[in-house]
Amino acid sequence: MLSLKVHHIGYLVKKTEPAIRVLQALGYEICGAVVRDEIRLADICFLQKDGYRIELIAPYSETSVVYGLLKKYKNCPYHICYETQDFDSDYQTLREEGFLPVDTLTPAPALDGCEVVFMTHASLGMIELIRPR
Ligand code: NI
Repeated sequence: MLSLKVHHIGYLVKKTEPAIRVLQALGYEICGAVVRDEIRLADICFLQKDGYRIELIAPYSETSVVYGLLKKYKNCPYHICYETQDFDSDYQTLREEGFLPVDTLTPAPALDGCEVVFMTHASLGMIELIRPR
């Protein structure tokens, strides 16, 4: 039995500041500062509205792991992130459901350094899984 809870929707954008202004105009509130993630070479920040949390991800280098996605899809949501109460068990279940890891557990500076892993499914696309501390 999976213990997943939606944590955020990851939204790829060219620049954080203009996207923040638009989301604020739509009624979102910013949660903390923009964090420069030097592992993913992207600026990241969170906003929320009505219990929904959005993560803005703006690569600042062409060598960022998400730069290719931005070139291909432009500004767009591209992953849903889940928190799990039991990472090892849920990871195994997701593997059995057909999800394949696209990277390994990596610290996420914008999530207080919690480790995350991205997985993809041929019929669904990408998800992100947060390992609780
Ligand atoms: Ni994310």
